[in-house]
Amino acid sequence: MSHVDVLRVLGGDGRELRLTGHVGFDSLPDQLVNKCVNKGFDFNILCIGETGCGKSTLIDSLFKTTFNDQEVMHKLPEVSLNQETYQLKESNVNLRLTVVSTAGYGDQINKENSCNAIIQYIDQQFANFLEEELKIKRDLRSFHDTRIHACIYFVSPTGHSIKSLDLVCMKELDKRVNIIPVIAKADTVSRAELSQFKARIIEELQSNGIGIYQFPTDDDTVSDLNTKMNEQVPFAVVGSRDEVVVNGHKVRARQYPWGTVEVENEAHCDFVKLREMVLRTNMEDLREKTHTQHYERFRSERLVQMGFADMGADNEPVSLQETYEAKRVEHIREMQSKEERMRQMFVQKVKDKEAELKSSEQKLHNEFERLRRQNAEEKRQLDDKKRQLEEEEISLFNKKKAAVQAQRAQTEREQLAKKQGRR
Ligand code: GTP
Ligand code: MG
Repeated sequence: MSHVDVLRVLGGDGRELRLTGHVGFDSLPDQLVNKCVNKGFDFNILCIGETGCGKSTLIDSLFKTTFNDQEVMHKLPEVSLNQETYQLKESNVNLRLTVVSTAGYGDQINKENSCNAIIQYIDQQFANFLEEELKIKRDLRSFHDTRIHACIYFVSPTGHSIKSLDLVCMKELDKRVNIIPVIAKADTVSRAELSQFKARIIEELQSNGIGIYQFPTDDDTVSDLNTKMNEQVPFAVVGSRDEVVVNGHKVRARQYPWGTVEVENEAHCDFVKLREMVLRTNMEDLREKTHTQHYERFRSERLVQMGFADMGADNEPVSLQETYEAKRVEHIREMQSKEERMRQMFVQKVKDKEAELKSSEQKLHNEFERLRRQNAEEKRQLDDKKRQLEEEEISLFNKKKAAVQAQRAQTEREQLAKKQGRR
């Protein structure tokens, strides 16, 4: 390496100076690499596809391992997402891989809300990152970044055209993630049908204005390869967990009575292209685009929603301090008015309750009065009845007494007459 290098001094118009010896800042890229390698990398893949379309098998094939993924039932009432994180190591590079897969996608009769859970999940990961970023004591170095870097969208191998559910969902997703469409289980579609199917998918995506991830062509070292690969999307992939010995080598393959489909054979399917593009050539671009495009869009929209703006109403730049102060004042005012509203509501509720209690007290009082009057009336009636009965009984008694007395006088008279007659 030559020691005669050029130093650009920043400030003013930037003068260029010649170095007279080795200084050492040419090791800066190495320092950066070492730092990144020590820290490790997060890479997050979202697999969207109908139940049983081969999502887990493809991920296992991509990373040449077996992740413990459970099969999903077809009877789920709504779409949900399963997230698993794995720690992988290749050479001295640590990768924290998060695989998120849809469960029950396309199984419901009403598919209107199929995409909602996916959108919510993606936005939630952005929101988590933003929350960490806005903390006073933030720790983005150790923060587990779960923002989706690559969304592998599994198109069912119908051989006809892409389903409307896929179009609707991709339309919602293209602003949020890097969509990489693939044709699932491509061994079930013939070669001729496959090229027509690919063309039809691209045509449908274009006519619906759906933007899928384009492998970057601005880096000379990979631009030719990426340009070629962009033309081959959607990749027709085959996955397998079975290993077969072909030409003395163990390879992942699917065996059929009529032959063997090798996953990593480019003449059989596009699996290798997908792996090359996503994991080997463009992994950093996927991570970068997620941060600089998709997250940036989310961040700016969320900050605007939160009341932040770069420019004021008079088209003058607004400082963060001013925005914060205005927001704080607005927040305090809002809280005060909320408090006042709640206080008034409370007072009104107390008044209503008091009136309610008063009215029920009045009702009780009236009822008591009514019962008291009714009781007095009943008592008076009873007294009358008693008196009447007593009078009737006395007169009856007197009558009976008079009759008995008359009877007795009659008997005495008759006895006296008898006595006189005997004499
Ligand atoms: P869920 O997670 O339950 O929704 O399923 P999945 O999408 O993860 O599918 P999985 O990988 O479990 O595969 C389902 C079935 O499809 C298994 O029997 C696989 O062997 C088979 N399969 C997976 N990939 C392919 C493929 O490329 N071609 C064919 N023909 N079958 C495949
Ligand atoms: Mg699965």
